[in-house]
Amino acid sequence: MKKGDAVLGKFRQDDDQKRDYSGKKIRVGIIGTGWIAEAHIEQYKKFPDVELVAMADLIPGKPQAFCEKMGVDYSNIHFYPDHQSMLDNEQLDAVSVCTYNATHAECTIAALKAGVNVLLEKPFTVTLDEAVAVMKAEKESGKLLSLGFQPRMDPNMQQIKKIVESGVLGEIYYIQTGGGRRRGIPNSTFIEKSTAGVGALGDIGCYSLDMVLNAIGYPKPLTVTGYTSNFFGTNPAIQYADKNHTAEENAARFSVDDFAAAFIRLEGGIILDFRIAWAMHLDTSGDTIIMGKKGSLRIPSTECWNGTVGGPMTLYSDIAGVLTQTEIPIIPCDQSLFEMKVRSFLDAVYDGAPAPVPSSQILYNQAIIDGIVKSAEAGCEIKIEIPEI
Ligand SMILES: NC(=O)c1ccc[n+]([C@@H]2O[C@H](COP(=O)([O-])OP(=O)(O)OC[C@H]3O[C@@H](n4cnc5c(N)ncnc54)[C@H](O)[C@@H]3O)[C@@H](O)[C@H]2O)c1
Repeated sequence: MKKGDAVLGKFRQDDDQKRDYSGKKIRVGIIGTGWIAEAHIEQYKKFPDVELVAMADLIPGKPQAFCEKMGVDYSNIHFYPDHQSMLDNEQLDAVSVCTYNATHAECTIAALKAGVNVLLEKPFTVTLDEAVAVMKAEKESGKLLSLGFQPRMDPNMQQIKKIVESGVLGEIYYIQTGGGRRRGIPNSTFIEKSTAGVGALGDIGCYSLDMVLNAIGYPKPLTVTGYTSNFFGTNPAIQYADKNHTAEENAARFSVDDFAAAFIRLEGGIILDFRIAWAMHLDTSGDTIIMGKKGSLRIPSTECWNGTVGGPMTLYSDIAGVLTQTEIPIIPCDQSLFEMKVRSFLDAVYDGAPAPVPSSQILYNQAIIDGIVKSAEAGCEIKIEIPEI
């Protein structure tokens, strides 16, 4: 086909309007140069408007080794032994907080107080009190805080929200969400309370909660009956060795949950039934189901639960008296979710726009995680009280 004919054969113009990033450079720092910082640096390296200026880690020599591993020229990058010394000595526009969960709040509050915009890894924090303290610092600073929930960028996740908002399900009254892995306990800093604070509940549970709560507009959680256990992580026969620890050592240092379940009441009379596992004697603890008065949506779980959609979704409804199932096909996405997460944060910093994943939403996600922990400890249902910010 001739070129001109190919153009005419389309029914839309190509949308090739690219943003011009040749103006201001965004001065970026990284706090915590562990595993997930690798995914952040891969993105920052690509963007012409980013100048990587500083990195901090508590472990001496780690940022240098990190740069070498990631092929980053560090001749102009300053290294610091902790977040505060970096913030005290650098003029930064933005930081990625890539520390383990236990220092999310401390590092984010310090960055906001220093007038720096923050992209904070998930989960928000360990406790609700910490999340509230972060949001107070955010409010006082006027700076931007975005949460690192990259599944939000997935068009399939966005489709769930569009389906709910279209009204095709009618009023939502019951939701089941969660999922998990048959064997999928992470290692390193994920399994100790002093560094992770929470286990599967915070690590992958936060994604399941976000999948449905974002779709229904993040109603306020009111009460929770929660349960947590750790039968698998503490079992040396199931635990495994890694380069720093034997299986026995990993079982002995395992001090977080590997399974959590909860029954949560949300504002608007909606019930949320939740379960999540890093390990279990089961293939999946269930698909996500959103039940409404006019229709219901089934969202298949994935094997390695990471907050994405596991396959075509099914919409169940009753069309003029006939019970009907409609398949919602998977929407292909060839862009990295991580790239979109980092780029959308930078664009918001650049434009002074609202956070792509705002703390005001994820506060409720954290309130549920915190409520599950507290209810499990108390052995009874508890009220979720969220302080004014
Ligand atoms: N978005 C995702 O898909 C995804 C995937 C994996 C992990 N994560 C999240 O990323 C975070 C980090 O996970 P990881 O696997 O990279 O952990 P990690 O233990 O490999 O790295 C964390 C690093 O932070 C450093 N650190 C802690 N406190 C610090 C401080 N005050 N100042 C400077 N450095 C500090 C530690 O020394 C460590 O090197 C966790 O919260 C985890 O939930 C997100």
